[in-house]
Amino acid sequence: MLAIDLSGRRALVAGVADDGGFGFAIAKALAEAGASVSVGTWPPALTIFMNLLERGKMDESRRLNSGKLLEFEKIYPLDAAYDTYDAMPEELRTSKRYKDVGDCSIAGLAQRLTSDFGDKPLDVVVHSLANGPEVKKPLLETSRDGYLAALSASAFSLVSMVQRFAPLMRDGGSFVSLTYLASERVVPGYGGGMSSAKAALESDTRTLAFEAGRKYGVRINTISAGPLASRAASAIGIIEKMVEYVSVNAPLTQKLEAAEVGTVAAFLSSSLASGITGNTVYVDKGYHAMGMAVSAPAP
Ligand SMILES: NC(=O)c1ccc[n+]([C@@H]2O[C@H](COP(=O)([O-])OP(=O)(O)OC[C@H]3O[C@@H](n4cnc5c(N)ncnc54)[C@H](O)[C@@H]3O)[C@@H](O)[C@H]2O)c1
Repeated sequence: MLAIDLSGRRALVAGVADDGGFGFAIAKALAEAGASVSVGTWPPALTIFMNLLERGKMDESRRLNSGKLLEFEKIYPLDAAYDTYDAMPEELRTSKRYKDVGDCSIAGLAQRLTSDFGDKPLDVVVHSLANGPEVKKPLLETSRDGYLAALSASAFSLVSMVQRFAPLMRDGGSFVSLTYLASERVVPGYGGGMSSAKAALESDTRTLAFEAGRKYGVRINTISAGPLASRAASAIGIIEKMVEYVSVNAPLTQKLEAAEVGTVAAFLSSSLASGITGNTVYVDKGYHAMGMAVSAPAP
């Protein structure tokens, strides 16, 4: 049997704070394939996440095929909008959710990984995070600060992670991120520069695949996922409508499950995908292929 085998591999999934999003589903799929999985969690969501875990609220979704519960090797605080601790404003560092977590920048996480696991601690990195403070505003009404914040947290964060984590990866290392069709087609309501951030993420996936492929031998791909009513997506305000629209108009009409993205991420992270890099892989029930709404009148 051809199996996805990640045994002996270590994965870091950045952007997990509950069991409802793609990051959790990817972490679970990687664990099902045998990887040990650590997560990076945004400090404002860390306490709630730890509480959910400790109180057993996620036990059902943590259940693996073996019957055991998904265990995270480490849960690291991570604010991917900052490359170094020095770049974090003092006001933020000393704020309620940050004051006890220490250096939660991307460089800080790289440092923690090497002190916990040695010089080459990683095989798989998943970037499953995004943030656009003005996502509800059309691009036409988005401020410069809102636009740059979306690009910083949602796109440059990948560049920074590749800069700092690629040197820590063993042979066959893989990066996977999550993107959305609004990068290349207009999705009204996906605003605040988030569409621009996803376009940058996809373009950077290609350039980084070349640069980091040549320098470190790693692969870099992005999954263009269909809409899912995760916590982050609920902030957009129209996610239920987007999910419904896709299920009416996509080639496959069942609603996308996060686990379907999880298994593709596990495949892309495995040696079975050793020939795939610089790709945007659609996991969206085929919706990207459509050129006309099914409900529209025939021409
Ligand atoms: N849900 C969808 O419809 C959809 C569709 C396509 C792509 N995506 C992408 O999937 C990825 C995961 O999102 P999701 O929808 O599964 O939601 P999610 O809420 O599970 O994940 C988003 C995570 O990003 C974290 N985050 C936000 N700002 C951060 C920062 N500065 N540093 C570190 N972490 C930060 C949040 O705490 C959260 O855990 C995102 O890149 C998103 O754009 C989502």
